[in-house]
Amino acid sequence: MGKTSYRITLIPGDGIGPEVIEATCRVLEATGVSFDWDVRHAGAAVAEREGTPLPDAVLDSIRANGVALKGPVTTPIGSGFRSVNVGIRKALDLYANVRPALALPGFPGAHPNVDLIVVRENTEGLYVGIEHEVIPDVAAEATRIITRRASERVVRYAFDYARRNGRHEVTAVHKANILKITDGLFLKVAREVAAAYPDIAYREMIIDAMCMQLVVQPEAYDVLVLTNLFGDIVSDLCAGLVGGLGVAPGANIGETLAVFEPVHGSAPDIAGKDIANPTATILTGALMLRHLGEREAAARVEAAVSAVAREGRITTADLRSSQPDARVVGTQAMADEIAQHLS
Ligand code: NAI
Repeated sequence: MGKTSYRITLIPGDGIGPEVIEATCRVLEATGVSFDWDVRHAGAAVAEREGTPLPDAVLDSIRANGVALKGPVTTPIGSGFRSVNVGIRKALDLYANVRPALALPGFPGAHPNVDLIVVRENTEGLYVGIEHEVIPDVAAEATRIITRRASERVVRYAFDYARRNGRHEVTAVHKANILKITDGLFLKVAREVAAAYPDIAYREMIIDAMCMQLVVQPEAYDVLVLTNLFGDIVSDLCAGLVGGLGVAPGANIGETLAVFEPVHGSAPDIAGKDIANPTATILTGALMLRHLGEREAAARVEAAVSAVAREGRITTADLRSSQPDARVVGTQAMADEIAQHLS
């Protein structure tokens, strides 16, 4: 009988996307797991060619395959096309954005013992994109939508994740003291859901206090669940706690579909130079392996990343500062080194 080959939608993306995706595919293939990559293009170059940055064929491919690995996509600021990332998450109802922040020994700047999971609501909040000028150039307004349905499923996801992964506590992060109605609803629903998980501790934290706590004692927290904007900001903060955007993986999860992508963006300042750190995308690939049920391969990839960081012989430019003796290598060489450390 032949080995299972996983058909995965592969979206290289813009900027450093194609480089970090190529590097990641090599590491994933080196695990021995077999992949049938269904390559689909989205982003700025596609927008010029096809008139839309997110052709229907990309969404259809993800619907058919169930799983996608995606590089970052550029979003124009202020004007231009709407975010492809927001478009994918909304079209496929990928309601939970999961961003683990794990301090690996050897990552410069990583706070020791940080092992956080940020679960961000991905479909509503301030990111519904309902904005308008009240008086042009004088006043503008944005709508923040919080629903019971979206709050309940994301908080439930956080508790289920905690249970499945041997975690002990979920913290709901909010600003219900000021946003009494919207975050008030989020918090009310979070409390109701928490009551159904007596085996997992539950606590609440106001967003500003949470940011301070995360800088002062990040090791004291476990799983965080947040509304969309707060989750976006806090997950980058947590990436900074464990070594920066170059090492922070992520996943967008729905009822049946999942899109895996690193936290970082397309980094146009370093694109095309073979200097981007592929680690975030490689760790994202490990999350995907675990989602596919390939737990052993996932653990081997994470251990290989860890071993390369611990040895500290080679590094990428973004991690260079605290490893003065390390040889700085490019994106593909870093991936090769990680692949060679697979047990
Ligand atoms: P960014 O994450 O692309 O870059 C921020 C800084 O981190 C830059 O100095 C960059 O060089 C560095 N950096 C990022 N990833 C790195 C890596 N793997 N290795 C080494 N250094 C790395 O954020 P920025 O500049 O705010 O956004 C650039 C574009 O990316 C924008 O168009 C934005 O909308 C888009 N973006 C896309 C995301 C996605 O597709 N999921 C997520 C975030 C931003």
